[in-house]
Amino acid sequence: MKVLVAGGTGYIGSHTVVELMEKGFDVVIVDNLSNSFPEVVDSITEITGKRPDFIELDLADTDSASEFFAQYKGIDAAIHFAAYKAVGESVEKPLIYYRNNIYSLINLMENMEKHGIRNLVFSSSCTVYGQPDELPVSEQSPIKPAWSPYGNTKQISEEIIRDVCNVSSLKAIALRYFNPIGAHPSALIGEYPIGIPNNLMPFITQTAIGKREVLSVFGDDYPTPDGTAIRDYIHVVDLAQAHVVAVERMFEDRGKENFEIFNLGTGNGFSVLEVIRSFEKVTGLKLNYKITGRRPGDIEKVFADTAFANQELGWKAIRGLDEMTLSAWNWELALKERKK
Ligand code: UFG
Repeated sequence: MKVLVAGGTGYIGSHTVVELMEKGFDVVIVDNLSNSFPEVVDSITEITGKRPDFIELDLADTDSASEFFAQYKGIDAAIHFAAYKAVGESVEKPLIYYRNNIYSLINLMENMEKHGIRNLVFSSSCTVYGQPDELPVSEQSPIKPAWSPYGNTKQISEEIIRDVCNVSSLKAIALRYFNPIGAHPSALIGEYPIGIPNNLMPFITQTAIGKREVLSVFGDDYPTPDGTAIRDYIHVVDLAQAHVVAVERMFEDRGKENFEIFNLGTGNGFSVLEVIRSFEKVTGLKLNYKITGRRPGDIEKVFADTAFANQELGWKAIRGLDEMTLSAWNWELALKERKK
């Protein structure tokens, strides 16, 4: 079976390509390289021993998308990672976010319909829950109004997919990610933020390696045990494997509904300080950090109810926090070696 991975040279996309290929799937990557590099394809080849097809393409461009699907045959399923994801930037540049994230989805779905491709896995986010009223947060928890255009693109995308599934033979699974961190154990692929990282883990590793002077911990006055905010961090390899399971579920027609939604987390919440402590423990390093004010828009606490994904999808995250922080550090070290 052949799987189209849109955004397959990106952070989560590249890890998913590796897991798909290791399970014997053929993969074609399309990516516009706006936030990734073509060398990722070489790294995937090194890990898996096989080269995926790669086409540099902007899926949000209607003509390029149609042209690709007219020429490239034999795709059985698509996984859509090709989206912008910086929350703060989306507030500054909403139209760029709506254009990229929504147009890419519509172009993909129109072409899937036209060419009879019936299986879609979509990258969604726990951001759709906002600050949930109850924790852990299950798939049934209410969707809260999005506070950022980025979050809104995830909500709108889920609605678009639901509407299309209602009236067509399309089968779709939306996976709501909690906080993916870490890197492949080979340290050949990982997160590669361009510019100053927005997210915690790359900021930690870049500070430890000397690229950044100090990590700001955004707030220690939250109503949590140590005062810092709590998230459900999940190893990117666990996350990637869930995509393979989702694709298999659709191929084997095991879905209960045409459109299904699953939380992808571990079910465990860790505070910012706990992540720092884990990093310091596994690396033996002392991290330079300081407590600063809260970051606007941050919620205090979120972690997943994973029961539905565990039972229904038959998938469970198995890698712990120390493995996540160590793999992130090994990736940062490998990047430094590569640049020498
Ligand atoms: N944090 C810091 N210092 C930093 C960066 C982050 O203290 O330099 C804290 C944040 O305040 C938060 C935690 O670390 O408490 C995690 O922050 P991230 O930025 O890594 O991730 P978020 O939980 O903010 O995730 C959000 C959305 C996701 C989205 C992601 C993309 O919930 O849907 O941003 O940036 F994918």
